[in-house]
Amino acid sequence: MKAAGLGDHFVNHDHALFYQNASGVPWTATYIQAKGDPIADLYEDIAAEEKARATYQWLIDMTDDVDLQDGLKYLREREVVHSQRFREAVEIIKDDRSHQKYF
Ligand SMILES: [Fe+2]
Repeated sequence: MKAAGLGDHFVNHDHALFYQNASGVPWTATYIQAKGDPIADLYEDIAAEEKARATYQWLIDMTDDVDLQDGLKYLREREVVHSQRFREAVEIIKDDRSHQKYF
């Protein structure tokens, strides 16, 4: 654990999962944003997917292990697809809002 740079984690959490970012800042619910407006929330989702894609890319750039890169590339592409689906949903909502509604 110490050789892998996880000594601090081991001292505080043993082998337990403890979600934190690369700087050691613990995960909190404040990372989750929800406005209640579908377009605003979808753009928040798109931003999260793009940040995940960028993180996978940086991880790919940090290793020369091709097997590890293959798995990371799959995960990176998955984030691209998620982003595209959210973008499509934004367009559907915008289109729906542009039509007059008669009740
Ligand atoms: Fe995703």
